[in-house]
Amino acid sequence: MSIREVAVADEAGLLGRIYRSIFRVRPVPQTELERSQAVASNFFFHIHSAKVYEETLKFKKTLGLGLFSLFTFVVLVITGILLMFYYVPAPEQAYQRMLDLRGVVSFGTFLRNMHRWGAHAMVGLVILHMMRVYLTGAHKAPRELNWVIGVVLLLLTLFLSFTGYLLPWDQLAYWAIMVGTSIASYAPVVGDQIRFFLLGDDDVGREALLRFYVLHVVVLPAVLSALIGLHFWRIRKDGGLARPSTDE
Ligand code: HEM
Repeated sequence: MSIREVAVADEAGLLGRIYRSIFRVRPVPQTELERSQAVASNFFFHIHSAKVYEETLKFKKTLGLGLFSLFTFVVLVITGILLMFYYVPAPEQAYQRMLDLRGVVSFGTFLRNMHRWGAHAMVGLVILHMMRVYLTGAHKAPRELNWVIGVVLLLLTLFLSFTGYLLPWDQLAYWAIMVGTSIASYAPVVGDQIRFFLLGDDDVGREALLRFYVLHVVVLPAVLSALIGLHFWRIRKDGGLARPSTDE
């Protein structure tokens, strides 16, 4: 007997009451309507609309790239929070803290590599996901808005990667940001303002490190999380995933 069956049988007992306070015990849906209601009321099924084409649920349709992108983002948030316990965004300490992570902190190298490789993986997965969407024609009506939201998600992902690059405060980080922000300064009209906004100074120094840190650990993850929520909501509102290619 499964826990569910025990809990259902034990209707008046303590076990049954605890189980039902956590899970909604419903009979297995039999009709189309009951099946739709079961999907609509389940948080974990919620990403799809109540009815979806069976073919679109197949792995070969999406290659799971959107979900893999989400998974890497969650891994990055968790490892990023753990890294924040050790990292100090100040020029005198940042580099030494990074070395300590590699040599002193238990599992520090593992943690740092998870975060670093996770970041590279996320950039690659989001680009592959975008290509999948385009090549299966899933960007067409009625999904134009979700495509635009996706483009913003890609830019935010790239910017997250860029802001994280400075934090180790080594030569590679310094020169990468020097080159990156110099390129930004060539943008017409507002180029110099963008560079100054990012660096908070004329050079890559204390102000830049603090700004990149705040953008990297608070602003960009918060905006990205909100937009991912919007992205998922649109997937549902636009009618689940794209129709089978024969219908397009
Ligand atoms: C943080 C980045 C992103 C995450 C976590 C994410 C997540 C997802 C997920 C889970 C799906 C469901 C289907 C699937 O797994 O492929 C999806 C669908 C979709 N995504 Fe993304 N996505 C991201 C970035 C993008 C980008 C960069 C674009 C395009 C510029 C995009 C456009 C779309 C569109 C149009 C759909 C609907 C596809 C369909 O109906 O078949 N997404 N996304």
